[in-house]
Amino acid sequence: MGSDNASPYGSVIYDEHIVHVLPFYREFHEQIMDLVRVMKPGAADWLDTGCGTGTLAARVLEQRDDVRFTLADPSEKMLNEAKRKLEGRGVRFELLASHELPLTSEFDVVTAVQSHHYYRPEEREEAVRRCCRALRDGGVFITFENVRMSSEGSDAAAMKRWMDFLRGQGNPEEEIRLQTDRRGVETHPITAEEHLELLRRCGFRSADILWASYLQAGFWAVR
Ligand SMILES: C[S@@+](CC[C@H](N)C(=O)[O-])C[C@H]1O[C@@H](n2cnc3c(N)ncnc32)[C@H](O)[C@@H]1O
Repeated sequence: MGSDNASPYGSVIYDEHIVHVLPFYREFHEQIMDLVRVMKPGAADWLDTGCGTGTLAARVLEQRDDVRFTLADPSEKMLNEAKRKLEGRGVRFELLASHELPLTSEFDVVTAVQSHHYYRPEEREEAVRRCCRALRDGGVFITFENVRMSSEGSDAAAMKRWMDFLRGQGNPEEEIRLQTDRRGVETHPITAEEHLELLRRCGFRSADILWASYLQAGFWAVR
């Protein structure tokens, strides 16, 4: 199961696998689109960092033609899939990780979906600061991530729920073990409280929980 990005699934098979790995994966997008509908109802400049295969942008553009997207990802292969999916939609692409983003006050919306939990603390903070800096005043940052529960017991229970979901989706035991073994090694999830503290520390005027279930949560913060 070699991969050309930080997830265990190569860019070409990513879309077909991810819905069987992340409970509510499509709901993440629904929540984001609904929040943006209220926060930024007019034309908007939108950066999706860690865009992967570009699914979020494709879904937004099915509903709205007044959004100008910039998609960033450090994996060339993922970005190529996104380019293929979004051909002719006027999207700008950047081969960059979040902590390398050089953009300042350009966007009304910045999203990072399942792409920042690979960071260890220091680089994670720089990544969030760069996302904040990329926003215009009043712009909104929305991030979904694998999170850690606030005690070992709760984390183990949430992990068991996720493993049961993975089994229910027909994932082989070997693949389920691979997912659980990555936690704390390839991914470095932090708690919801740590997320909110980090967002405030990085310069956002507000930071709140958008959604949570299993081992994933969404947060939104206003610059
Ligand atoms: C699990 S996929 C999520 C892709 C997409 N956002 C989605 O929701 O389907 C993780 C993505 O994060 C990207 N990624 C890995 N490290 C990153 C970093 N430091 N900054 C931004 N993106 C990163 C990977 O290349 C990959 O495309």
